[in-house]
Amino acid sequence: MAIRTHNCTELRESNEGESVALAGWVNAFRGHGSGLIFVDLRDRFGITQVVFDSEDASEQLVEAGAKLRNEDCVRVLGKVRKRAKVNDKMPTGRIEIVVEELEVLSKTAKLPFVPSTEKDLPNEEVRLRYRYIDMRRPKMQDILRMRHRVAKLTRDYFDEHGFLEVETPVLCRSTPEGARDFLVPSRNQAGMWYALPQSPQLFKQILMIGGCDRYLQIVKCFRDEDPRADRQAEFTQIDLEMSFVDRDEVLGLMEGFAKSVWKEMLDVDLPDFPRMSYREAMDRFGIDRPDTRFALELVDISDLAPKTGFGVFTDALAKNKGVVKAIRVPDGAAKFTRKITDAFTPFVQQFGAGGAPTSKFINGHFEGGIAKFVKEIESELVERLGLEEGDAVVFGADSYNTCTKALGELRLKIAKEHGYIPEGKWNFLWVYDFPMFEYDEESGRYHSLHHPFTAPTKEEAQRFMAADIKDIDTIESIVSDGYDMICNGSEIGGGSIRIHQQDIQSRVFTLLGMDEEEAKLKFSFLLEALTYGAPPHGGVAFGLDRLVMHLVGTENIRDVIAFPKSLTGVDFMCEAPNVVDSEQLTELHVKSTATN
Ligand code: AMO
Repeated sequence: MAIRTHNCTELRESNEGESVALAGWVNAFRGHGSGLIFVDLRDRFGITQVVFDSEDASEQLVEAGAKLRNEDCVRVLGKVRKRAKVNDKMPTGRIEIVVEELEVLSKTAKLPFVPSTEKDLPNEEVRLRYRYIDMRRPKMQDILRMRHRVAKLTRDYFDEHGFLEVETPVLCRSTPEGARDFLVPSRNQAGMWYALPQSPQLFKQILMIGGCDRYLQIVKCFRDEDPRADRQAEFTQIDLEMSFVDRDEVLGLMEGFAKSVWKEMLDVDLPDFPRMSYREAMDRFGIDRPDTRFALELVDISDLAPKTGFGVFTDALAKNKGVVKAIRVPDGAAKFTRKITDAFTPFVQQFGAGGAPTSKFINGHFEGGIAKFVKEIESELVERLGLEEGDAVVFGADSYNTCTKALGELRLKIAKEHGYIPEGKWNFLWVYDFPMFEYDEESGRYHSLHHPFTAPTKEEAQRFMAADIKDIDTIESIVSDGYDMICNGSEIGGGSIRIHQQDIQSRVFTLLGMDEEEAKLKFSFLLEALTYGAPPHGGVAFGLDRLVMHLVGTENIRDVIAFPKSLTGVDFMCEAPNVVDSEQLTELHVKSTATN
């Protein structure tokens, strides 16, 4: 007989009387003094009850059964019989296996924790150190299954739409996606280094120039940045690129993909995704990935502010691009204690703002906080913000960038901490019409908002080519053909129509501060490829981990990765990173300067 004839969720009453073999882990055991020992046997598929019955079994067998402990790995041979006590909560709850033979395949050592219950789980470090035990939890198995199904759906959907899966190299030249590279020293070429790909961006564009037309890859990307709740240094993208398309065609196909995933996985019918310009997102939500499940919108009151005579407002308006904005917090008057509103100041200071004054709207008037200043514009504010009795208002005043960013972050904090985020809602949208470049005063340099291969929109291309590089306002006003897919305030995908003309690409490099020499040195292969009949093309990359996070409802990216790294970039199980032999370093022409 094979090691097992069935898995642990397959057997039913119709199998009564059959001789079967099952294998799995001891999930639970109940020893009954009456000579009956029940064991729940678990594998990835489910649980089946097996019973050692002293009426049929030898004393030796019952004794062996009594010695079983949680997580022992065993094989049992026996006969299927109907249960006396049915459990309709389990698919196999109407049968049990009467054990005739027991084989302990592998006894377990003393467990650091028991994975058969979600109760009393240890901290994440212990779970990651013993990931193979943690992974036995049904919850983890569900997540792995979900992730597998999303990957399969992805391949099926894009296969149906003519995409080819093509693998791209892991040992590459660095691609600028804005993060630090992981580097790998070359043994053959002393002093030379590979970079691990931050994304396969340039390869997928080259695949378009190579005539592949539609490309897909589920691919690991590497960015040497600090992990966060929704960020890992090593993560997975669903990477896509298409030739001969405009923005609307890309967005349509990608929206169709997201809708089919939500339908298949959650049986949710998503409505068409609204589209919002970057400017509108910043104006209304203070962030380029707005969470539109709740209001608390930022409303511009710069025109009303001078009437208040409030120094904070007037000083802000005197600044370059100074603004005053307000957020209506429904029923905020009762929720906001002094302690809560006092904490707003240090919070917004992290984002460069001076403070976030508040006031409450009670008995038809402003009370508390900066009431005496905003009383002057009370009726205008009531109308503009749609104020109602019992609301609170939070104000921000600074340069546009600082004010919107600070209030955007405060909006999210208030929503999270005071229950403004509705449960079970899916708000998807596209954010588009991003500026191509942002000027950083400190370094005196432009940066790409997406990446340097993002094209200006068709209408903007001429303006871009004609603009004076020193004319910061004009350069910052040029709109790119980039787009992000946002789900409940998280960026789950981003992409753009690419530059397929060499002259435009060269000019972008110049603008980013690369002289011709440097651009050639870093990107000669791309610039050259663009001269050989490059088709217009565009694409997207989705964060697979982030998609799965939404689908399983976790805010911790490590939950959806089989072997994630900790917040300090450590794999607790294999203890990576770690030291290597000095001979290895010598062979790689590398000398460590670390002192530990
Ligand atoms: P981008 O950098 O926006 O674009 O990445 C695409 C998507 O990948 C996910 N993502 C991450 N997920 C987990 N951890 C990270 N550190 C991380 N970084 C990004 C996000 C994001 O939306 N080459 C371009 C795509 C293109 O232009 O086609 C790119 O990589 O969900």
